[in-house]
Amino acid sequence: MTDVTVVDHPVLAHRLAQLRDRRTGSDTFRQLISEVSGLLAYEALRDLGTDAVTIDTPVADAVPARRVGEAVLLVPILRAGLGMVQSIQEIVPMTEVAHVGLRRDDATLRSDVYLNRLPHDLSGRRVIVCDPMLATGGSLGQVCELVRERGAAEIIALCIVASEPGLASFGGDHPGVRVYCAAVDPELNDAGYILPGLGDAGDRLFGPPD
Ligand code: PRP
Ligand code: URA
Repeated sequence: MTDVTVVDHPVLAHRLAQLRDRRTGSDTFRQLISEVSGLLAYEALRDLGTDAVTIDTPVADAVPARRVGEAVLLVPILRAGLGMVQSIQEIVPMTEVAHVGLRRDDATLRSDVYLNRLPHDLSGRRVIVCDPMLATGGSLGQVCELVRERGAAEIIALCIVASEPGLASFGGDHPGVRVYCAAVDPELNDAGYILPGLGDAGDRLFGPPD
């Protein structure tokens, strides 16, 4: 069983409706992907590690407080995952970013890795893999495998829209990965697109690749 949390909130639902709408242009689409990503990360990192500190306010000394003490590694899956990074970095202190590039073949629906900038040693690290779309689950699965091979302690996946069949297949292979998303859609079409979905996220963010 996949450990999946569908974050259910009116401000997310509102943005998801705009993302799904085919009339939404790429500037707005980019902005919405960014905002939804920040909200998903906020929810997924409720247990982010903090240290006890004391601070002096303008009117009181040695006040107990907490500061984030854990450096989270963000792994955006290029291209579309790139659109999720900035807003997460704006919300979560101390992030690092390692890019991984994958391209899904239109005919076979299998993805090839064309870029891997993961650090060799991820022991003890918490890794947040970012990709707005989990369709068959193949791309996310490949990246989780690469991250796991390097010894990561925990993997969280942030996906804006996931498909039911993709989650079932992904969860079978990667039971320890927690997935946070804004929606789970019921099916894929013959071309491997999520239905109803939001179309091709990479193209809507950045334009057609070739
Ligand atoms: C899309 C999407 C995911 C993948 C999902 O990327 O951003 O990475 O497909 O499909 P899957 O779950 O069936 O593997 P794509 O390969 O189209 O590349 P792009 O982001 O560069 O457009
Ligand atoms: N990739 C996308 O961008 N959208 C889908 O629906 C499936 C794969």
